Amino acid sequence: MKAQNKVIIVTGGGSGMGRELVLNLLGKGALVAAIDINGTALQETVQLAGSNAGALSVFVTDITDRSAIEGLAEKVISKFGHVDGIINNAGIIQPFIKVNELSYEVIERVMNINFYGTLYLIKTFLPHLLTRPQAHIVDISSMGGFLPVPGQTIYGASKAAVKLLKEGLHSELHGTNVRVTVVFPGGVRTNIMSNSGLADRMGASSSKGAQSILSADKAAAIIINGMEQNRYRVLVGKDAKMMDFLYRLNPGYAAGLIAKKMGALLSSK
Ligand SMILES: NC(=O)c1ccc[n+]([C@@H]2O[C@H](COP(=O)([O-])OP(=O)(O)OC[C@H]3O[C@@H](n4cnc5c(N)ncnc54)[C@H](O)[C@@H]3O)[C@@H](O)[C@H]2O)c1
Repeated sequence: MKAQNKVIIVTGGGSGMGRELVLNLLGKGALVAAIDINGTALQETVQLAGSNAGALSVFVTDITDRSAIEGLAEKVISKFGHVDGIINNAGIIQPFIKVNELSYEVIERVMNINFYGTLYLIKTFLPHLLTRPQAHIVDISSMGGFLPVPGQTIYGASKAAVKLLKEGLHSELHGTNVRVTVVFPGGVRTNIMSNSGLADRMGASSSKGAQSILSADKAAAIIINGMEQNRYRVLVGKDAKMMDFLYRLNPGYAAGLIAKKMGALLSSK
């Protein structure tokens, strides 16, 4: 679905890829409803939108609150008249801890945001999207949604759930006006560590680490292009492409390679 003149909801629009998705969509002439739990961050996105800010509305909402999301539908539709697309982007990672040591509280929080938050948006807006001439749902999964990363097992499980949710929906919606795309980013330079309540341990804020990681605006451009091309799946970054290839060739070898590379993060918790 082309973005121009469409009304598109972006969750997690206050930071990282979500913010860049908002700015990219506005630049293409879309009308955008940005949702985030962090109101200050959303206001920064409004500032960054500059002369395009008139086409942007922001909604401070927790996507894990199902009744709030259901209430949001009325607000967004009364503001814009209709909705053509959703980009389910808001998400968090987990502390780098093995499942054996991870509390149910943390596990539920990760699943509630990454999986249930995504599901609430879809279940709330799908009946409306089916009435539109054209519509599109984009979900941001992760390279960790097909490749096991030690210390991010529950995060990976939440993103694998998003992958299968999206692939199942794609099949169920075949023959309708609603298109579906699932996105697998590799490493992208954002504040996901601090926004998830963790110290930066992947080097995203160090100058050397920062240089080697894909920027959020480039990732957003790849994602929007994937939506506009109606892609079934979008791999974001060389790392995601390479590991997707390797994982399909030899899953055990690919898992071992990542376990070796990421092992230091786990042991230094
Ligand atoms: N950064 C990466 O390397 C990377 C890699 C693969 C996948 N991803 C995925 O991409 C998506 C965006 O990540 P990012 O790196 O831009 O992160 P980010 O932390 O920069 O942005 C995420 C945004 O989601 C918002 N959010 C968190 N919980 C929320 C809730 N309950 N309700 C509403 N908003 C909420 C945060 O406030 C934040 O503004 C996430 O789903 C993440 O899992 C990121």
